[in-house]
Amino acid sequence: MSDIKHRVAIIGCGRMGQNYAEAYTTYPDTEIVAIADANVQRRDVLGARFDVSALYPDVEALLRDIVPDIAVVVTPTKYMKDVVIACAEAGVKGISTEKPIAACLQDADAMVEVCAERGVVFAGGNLQRAMNEVQEAASRLHNGELGEIRGASVHGFGGEISGGGCQHISVLRLFTNAEVEEIIAWGTPPEALDAETDEGLIINGRFHLTNGLECSVFGTPTSCRGVDVWTDECLVRWDWNPPEIFKGYDPHGNRVRIDTNYNPYPWNEFSYLTGSIRSFLAAVDGNGHPWITGADLRQALEVAIAAKLSATRNSTPVKLPLEDRSLALYPRPYRWIGGDATGKPQSVTEATGF
Ligand SMILES: NC(=O)c1ccc[n+]([C@@H]2O[C@H](COP(=O)([O-])OP(=O)(O)OC[C@H]3O[C@@H](n4cnc5c(N)ncnc54)[C@H](O)[C@@H]3O)[C@@H](O)[C@H]2O)c1
Repeated sequence: MSDIKHRVAIIGCGRMGQNYAEAYTTYPDTEIVAIADANVQRRDVLGARFDVSALYPDVEALLRDIVPDIAVVVTPTKYMKDVVIACAEAGVKGISTEKPIAACLQDADAMVEVCAERGVVFAGGNLQRAMNEVQEAASRLHNGELGEIRGASVHGFGGEISGGGCQHISVLRLFTNAEVEEIIAWGTPPEALDAETDEGLIINGRFHLTNGLECSVFGTPTSCRGVDVWTDECLVRWDWNPPEIFKGYDPHGNRVRIDTNYNPYPWNEFSYLTGSIRSFLAAVDGNGHPWITGADLRQALEVAIAAKLSATRNSTPVKLPLEDRSLALYPRPYRWIGGDATGKPQSVTEATGF
């Protein structure tokens, strides 16, 4: 941890933003210097709750007064692009976003590109890929101690393939150290396939990865709800918890689960949001890269869009990267425009944190 105290601004401080604010208030190397939120009542409550006096209705007003070191962007997805670009252009050193990063590929591209051009560290959000045990399982797969990877599968890729499915795609890409380069998919039910959003869409299919692996995709959970990756001897199973590792077979031919003995991680107060934030701060300090990046979220969106495209075209193989960057897949309205606009506002009492 560096001696520098990072000056943090939270932009969009609803239910999820408050989880970030709790974390950034707690860490000794961070200080929340400003909050921007469109809801005036909630904003005032949050100022008192997190002891922040610099409160703004939007990112423009905030940046006129303060250019923070870190911008934590937790607005509804619709507003993320403009906020991320404004922060990058103002000279913020590190920006984090949430899932899904955008609906349209062009918007995700614009965010990734402006951050790359300006040398801004661009992190993703509260995703299980950033869990320290997921990272360590990936290292064990990559350093060969579990053998050569032979196969992979995704389980439960349905319900909201962009809103929640980015969890699966981010772990799959990490474990296999490869990109999805071709998708053949089948989608149900028909009304979800016809809709603009990912709500209720169940995708079954096959991903072809850049390392030659064929990955089966199950739209509904099997015995697993996550990602399996296997070698001749071992299976690594991420099922929304620290990954299980199986090694070898018992006399009946069943895989044997072994003790994972993951290394202790110094930060554990905020579940896997911790790994996301700590790896992000380390990257801003020049050490490594965020365990979940904005580019990871862009890739996940692209896979979701391509899967739906294949399914709507009667399971035509679709190659990635997609040429048409105007393609879009909207998340459910709560994620897109937030709780206030969809009849599920967070009450002022709830925002006090008690
Ligand atoms: N990774 C996860 O586990 C996870 C969990 C929940 C939500 N999310 C994502 O986090 C984002 C926010 O979700 P939430 O549950 O906090 O929603 P929310 O509706 O509770 O909060 C959104 C907040 O943003 C504010 N806001 C809206 N537009 C704004 C703008 N242009 N500038 C500044 N503030 C603005 C609203 O006033 C509100 O306080 C969504 O993209 C959602 O998909 C991720």
